[in-house]
Amino acid sequence: MGKTIIISNRLPVQLQISNGDITAIPSVGGLATGMKSVHSGGDSLWIGWSGLTDEEIPKALAPKIDKALSEHGSSKVNLTADEVDGFYFGFSNRTIWPLFHYFLEYSEFELDNWNIYKQVNQKFADAILKVANDDDIIWVHDYQLMLVPQMVREKKPNISIGFFLHIPFPSFEIFRTLPWREEILEGLLGSDLIGFHTYDYERHFLSSVRRLLGLEVSFNDIHMDERVIKVDSFPMGIDYKKFSEAALKNQNTPPGEQSELQRRLYKHKKTDPDAKFFLSIDRLDYTKGIAKRLNAFEYFLNKYPQYKEKVRLIILAVPSRSNVPQYQLLKREIDELVGRINGEFSTVSWTPIWYFYRSMPFENLIDLYTTCDIAWLTPIRDGMNLVAKEYIATRTDRTGVLILSEMAGSANEMNEAILINPNNFEQTADALNQAITMPVEEQQERNRVLQKRLERYNVEKWANDFMGSLLDQKEKDFSHVARKLSVDLMNTIVKDYKSARKRLLFIDYDGTLAGFYKDPQKAGPDPELYELLDLISSQENTEMFLISGRDKETFTKWFLPKKYNMIVEHGVWLSRNGEEFKMIENVKKDWMEKILPVLESFVDRTPGSFIEEKNYSLAWHYRNTDPDFGQKRASELNTVLTSLIGTDDLSVLNGNKVMEIKSSNVNKGRAAMRMYAEDDYDFVFSIGDDWTDEFMFMELPEDSITVKVGRQKTNARYYVESVKNVRSLLKRFVY
Ligand code: ADP
Ligand code: G6P
Repeated sequence: MGKTIIISNRLPVQLQISNGDITAIPSVGGLATGMKSVHSGGDSLWIGWSGLTDEEIPKALAPKIDKALSEHGSSKVNLTADEVDGFYFGFSNRTIWPLFHYFLEYSEFELDNWNIYKQVNQKFADAILKVANDDDIIWVHDYQLMLVPQMVREKKPNISIGFFLHIPFPSFEIFRTLPWREEILEGLLGSDLIGFHTYDYERHFLSSVRRLLGLEVSFNDIHMDERVIKVDSFPMGIDYKKFSEAALKNQNTPPGEQSELQRRLYKHKKTDPDAKFFLSIDRLDYTKGIAKRLNAFEYFLNKYPQYKEKVRLIILAVPSRSNVPQYQLLKREIDELVGRINGEFSTVSWTPIWYFYRSMPFENLIDLYTTCDIAWLTPIRDGMNLVAKEYIATRTDRTGVLILSEMAGSANEMNEAILINPNNFEQTADALNQAITMPVEEQQERNRVLQKRLERYNVEKWANDFMGSLLDQKEKDFSHVARKLSVDLMNTIVKDYKSARKRLLFIDYDGTLAGFYKDPQKAGPDPELYELLDLISSQENTEMFLISGRDKETFTKWFLPKKYNMIVEHGVWLSRNGEEFKMIENVKKDWMEKILPVLESFVDRTPGSFIEEKNYSLAWHYRNTDPDFGQKRASELNTVLTSLIGTDDLSVLNGNKVMEIKSSNVNKGRAAMRMYAEDDYDFVFSIGDDWTDEFMFMELPEDSITVKVGRQKTNARYYVESVKNVRSLLKRFVY
């Protein structure tokens, strides 16, 4: 195995230039703080942006910067001020960030920013390609770099690529509003493994993939081209040991060596041992709900006036993305709120809110975590929220109460915290009261469970799980996956076709020779198709069969005068050389009157679905329904039918947005084999788009050319993407 290349916009350190010299300060934010522990433990290279624009770096300092970064196992991607504007402040933080956090009204859709985002993603991809070998593992992080996986895949098709999204993936209803939604999905699908913090984000992503790209998703595998992409959730943990050990060290520090902040905190605790400190720590970001928290604090003081002079809210807001107007407005709003609330409630001996707007050294963070009785972390929407986990890890005596928003990804794993809806002030005020009055034993019992979980599923375990899953994916054997019919493969097939002594062709109709229409009767053949089929069927030594699930009446009307060979209703009827259809399977139909009412009840409850009654089968079509709803109803119907059918000789076929019930002794594979047995063929070809065609692909001899239309999972050897490609291939047989 080669090295691991971590790639993210932020590096573990951010560079700053002061007095002509460079200083490296640790980056804040969940991604950088979490991955830092992973990076320091192994053989990895971290590529990212230094935090400085090209214009800000004096030429003379450039080598020094590279050296400073290489000391942190990192190397940088250079970005100009314009690139940072369009890519980072622009598309990443004015389009994707608000959209993915459900702040639709803040999302800006600017074409120029999108173009710069693409260009900068290409820069990151190129930086990887410059240093990557085929056996390396590439781990791409977060929403700033969603196109990178595909860009790397294009140049290095066999390399292992994992992607992790550190923020929520929104529901399809939100994601669909993005003008470049397909490109983003395709970019991500360059990966072998895509990870999310929670199952909800994972299922939102899969739903968008299904609805927007029409790809087949089976469980959490996406089938695309010749690849299978795995999607899974891996809730990110923290470096538990680092926080619990730092807390112990903090407690054992003699008073004389304590930080200024710690001394002041102790002093206040000492003057009023019953007073409670509430702690709120976040980057200054509108998703974190800081303003709402301040309003809720005011509400709390009014609802529970007995706590005036008894509680204090410490707010630490870390400056973030200050070039984005929404962040500037938020800063002003918070400044004003803090001023107003302090003005309203302060007394000579009490200021209810202490507000810090700065980044703090790690030691001070620990001072705050260990001293505050209640951590109040209530984002409006947050991918994970590591601060909640860090607070719990520092509570070495297991006291302390965590009030956490239900909208944070970490709430899924932290059920023992007091979980609240940040929009509900009444509930929030009551939660604060509950936290203040919670008996110590209860605090310790809750934290004991939380700590155990956090210690076990720490950031190292998280990274190992992700990496392990990525390696498994690489080792999986996808040789059974159909290959795309490339120009070269097509040339070989056409050559074999032309030199064959006797040819046998099975061609499905709907979804293969013709596209889908809302009304199936509208999908009749066009003049170009007739001409093509005329040419194929009139070739010497060629037996061409149209093989379809359609009823014989429709095919009689469309094709009988043309004298094509036809097999319809999945193999019940056969017609050759313009003769009337004959039954080739003995099938019953007395079951149909029992099943029809069941299907009718599904039609009533599933808008857009309808029943097609054939001579010997019944089909329930759900192409025109909502895709997820239709799929759900289809599995429901499948369960109902399976129990109804019992031992009858019936089977349910799951076609392309259609479920068909028919006699089990009938299928396209059996019919095709019957024709195959009639003569000695040296070129056998079959092509089709849905599950009913899989019977042909499975049953025809192994050396047959079997072709699937579409990218879904298949038993065919090859696939083509569309009806258009089918026609081009068939044309090459005759022209
Ligand atoms: P986000 O990733 O949205 O910023 P998280 O809560 O997941 O939110 O991660 C924040 C990270 O930044 C935590 O690891 C925390 O320790 C760190 N952090 C937060 N505030 C500060 C601060 N004032 N100084 C230094 N690091 C901070
Ligand atoms: C979140 C994002 C990270 C980002 C961090 C800090 O955690 O998921 O990708 O690095 O916030 O934001 P910044 O814009 O300063 O990198």
